[in-house]
Amino acid sequence: MTPRTVLPRHDVADLALADAGARRVEWAGREMPVLRAIRERLASERPFRGVRIAACLHVTTETANLALALRDGGAEVALCASNPLSTQDDAAAALVAREGVSVFARKGEDRDTYYRHIGAVLETKPVLTMDDGADVVTILHTERRELLPGVRGGTEETTTGVIRLRAMASEGVLAYPIIAVNEARTKHMFDNQYGTGQSAIDGLMRATNVLIAGKTAVVCGYGWVGRGVASRLRGMGAIVVVCEVDPLRGLEAAMDGFQVMSVALAAKRGDLFFTATGNLNVIGRDHFCLMKDGAILANVGHFNDEIELGGLAELAKSRREIRPFVEEFQLADKKLYVLAEGRLLNHAAAEANPAAVMDMSFANQALSLEYLLAHGNDLGPQVYAVPPELDEEIARRKLDAMGMQIDTLTPAQVEYARSWKAGT
Ligand code: NAI
Repeated sequence: MTPRTVLPRHDVADLALADAGARRVEWAGREMPVLRAIRERLASERPFRGVRIAACLHVTTETANLALALRDGGAEVALCASNPLSTQDDAAAALVAREGVSVFARKGEDRDTYYRHIGAVLETKPVLTMDDGADVVTILHTERRELLPGVRGGTEETTTGVIRLRAMASEGVLAYPIIAVNEARTKHMFDNQYGTGQSAIDGLMRATNVLIAGKTAVVCGYGWVGRGVASRLRGMGAIVVVCEVDPLRGLEAAMDGFQVMSVALAAKRGDLFFTATGNLNVIGRDHFCLMKDGAILANVGHFNDEIELGGLAELAKSRREIRPFVEEFQLADKKLYVLAEGRLLNHAAAEANPAAVMDMSFANQALSLEYLLAHGNDLGPQVYAVPPELDEEIARRKLDAMGMQIDTLTPAQVEYARSWKAGT
């Protein structure tokens, strides 16, 4: 990779970070063998030749590897951030200065800049979109409707985005087909669970350096992300409490050995709180009043509205940043600490999910985009699953890359599994 003299359109924090970023992009790529194999094939077949792709994803070293795979496949990729705090400025610089990919993202950008960057990506008049939280789709369907006829399809990376898109489809307002990458088993079972489970702890430790062992940690939401966070906290020696609204998930948490209780009860006990629900005001004003002095609150759900920060600000007599990504709220009787402004802790304070899981998430992205390019015109404006054969192929390749083999059913086993006649 050599520095470029002509740069693509961009708005990044500091191009001088490009060398460091390029080394970290390479490091992440080591752990992404499935995506690497797809990249090699795309580079030889070039199915995306001249196809404009607008990507609104967390701008990380792993996302850089995805962008390069698509670029090598012939695509013109323009990338912006899917969260104001998740951009890795060095990865953004490397993409622009070393690879010629358009990037509009700066870590810590304000709300106006965030949306201006989405606008800049849409200026490319995309044929395909990639979202993480459905912000590009939302802007396309509200402010930039004139671009909709040119879009053949899109993908969505996360649970919260898929919920928004399904709501659009059921109201009949979605204008083009979207593949819900999050719903691939090779995505949510690994990225949401093992990836976020690990990186949330990483974010907590980098932001606070607190000892986890012996603390009471409360996890709100026992979905894919919550399961991962709860099990990793237990592994670090925390006493883990789970809060749920779904009785089956609550029961599952109980039988996994966690204490299950309401947020109101857990509020009195917790030293550490994590929200992972995709929902609103899960920890709110009443709960803050019940909490112990010194409690630490963090969110790993997609949006920064799981902890009711407005209510906390109103209760607080003063607030200050005590360490990077740690804000102290002084209430009448106690101090509470909020990490990373209530935004995705693992992205803001750490390095997001490890490359080994993003390998599968982004293999799903690349193959789903290729599928949409081939079939998008025949699909109605609905939310679709990743074709199961692609999901299985990714799992198979990942196992291969990990040096593990599984067995294949014999013809007799296939027949047995299909028949209803065999018994004792
Ligand atoms: P999920 O749908 O599997 O789980 C969410 C759980 O929260 C459900 O069991 C639901 O019953 C529960 N819940 C909803 N409202 C609640 C409330 N008021 N109190 C307690 N529990 C409540 O979703 P998943 O995949 O676990 O994702 C959760 C969030 O994390 C989403 O916003 C998703 O977009 C985000 N996410 C973040 C990642 C990251 O890197 N930080 C990675 C993947 C997903």
